[in-house]
Amino acid sequence: MPAIDQLHAIEILDSRGRPTLQASCRFRDGSQGSTSVPSGASTGAAEAHELRDGDPQRYRGRGCRVAVANIRGEINAALKGREIDNQESLDRTLVELDGTPQKTRLGANALLAVSLAWARANAARQRLPLYRYFGQMPGFGPPTSLPRPTVNLFSGGAHAGGQVPLQDLLILPRRTQEMAGALEICVAVYESAADLIGDKYDARRLTADEGGLAPPFTRCEDMFEDALLAIENAGYRPGEDVCLALDVAASQFYRDGRYRLEGSLSAEAMIELLSDWAQRWPVVSIEDGLAENDWAHWPQLRRRLAGRALVLGDDLLCTNPARIQRAIDENAADALLLKVNQIGTLTEAARSCQLAREAGWHVTVSARSGETEDNWLADLAVGWHGQHIKIGSITQSERLAKYNRLLAIADATGMPIPG
Ligand code: PGA
Ligand code: ZN
Repeated sequence: MPAIDQLHAIEILDSRGRPTLQASCRFRDGSQGSTSVPSGASTGAAEAHELRDGDPQRYRGRGCRVAVANIRGEINAALKGREIDNQESLDRTLVELDGTPQKTRLGANALLAVSLAWARANAARQRLPLYRYFGQMPGFGPPTSLPRPTVNLFSGGAHAGGQVPLQDLLILPRRTQEMAGALEICVAVYESAADLIGDKYDARRLTADEGGLAPPFTRCEDMFEDALLAIENAGYRPGEDVCLALDVAASQFYRDGRYRLEGSLSAEAMIELLSDWAQRWPVVSIEDGLAENDWAHWPQLRRRLAGRALVLGDDLLCTNPARIQRAIDENAADALLLKVNQIGTLTEAARSCQLAREAGWHVTVSARSGETEDNWLADLAVGWHGQHIKIGSITQSERLAKYNRLLAIADATGMPIPG
């Protein structure tokens, strides 16, 4: 393995116009790679620490100059000239260098930017497409299929000014086994939904952070009704050709043990509401149906939805192996939403992915609401055999960079989406 010659970083802007990091890694043999890291808005409390400058004079305190300096300075000094054998030892070195449980000292954003840039440089050095490199990490094996896209149709919550509390209503094209066909269906339903809300709400195509349509819904049920109509108007059968998935992001409206969602609901009432939605509408997956710290009720939600919808943990799990193990032990979920920047290095995220797999869970590889034009997420979802990928909607280039990468991987490999 050639030694690292130089690590570099710059502050760039994400899809919300907020600063984030782009890091690059060059080996002594000249191979190099550069990547940028995303950033969330509806973040889990247990996520690794995203280091921001806190200087109110720049970007409302969200600057990343300290994280940039950590990469150019301390991390580069520690790694420059080092011959590191594999991703695991690189990531172990980064975690030890930081030395804090939540990566607060150097910043999880700085660590992840380096972890990913090194991966891309290493893949380039071996002349491997990035998805094959990710598939070579221990425990995965060569990819043979593509993830099924779950595409944001309607948005609410923290991504859309909170006009309804439900964060995302997503569509999932069910029958097709081709990536191109899957995206074609999603775009047709999106266009049909945009026409529908134009007529119904007399609203322009206002979109939320991830490109989902955000008309002035007054009730959560409007989202379901309009989604079903949009699917039908596009010529598809709800529940057969196209299903629904939800990201409730319930931590956002959980206060004092109550769920403030169209009234004030107890956990039991919230579970009944979600179960009712899954009965009335073709919902196959419910993400963060309960709050991240309401551990006591998640097993009940799982029992209630068993056989109907996946119980998908995002804020609950934070891609954190210890939280995932707890959820496995307590039967609190049966699907992992995997966001690498919630934990901070590729190796730790791989461990999370494998824990979920070993428990027989489903894995959705996910983008963040603040994204960049980088497309590594598509390679990661393929290389780590994610059953689903969640990138947002199909109208903004920071999302399309990943969808278009999936199309290119599909073209290069002929891999199908499993039926
Ligand atoms: P975030 O939201 O990236 O703003 O945290 C995405 C999600 O909740 O899945
Ligand atoms: Zn979520």
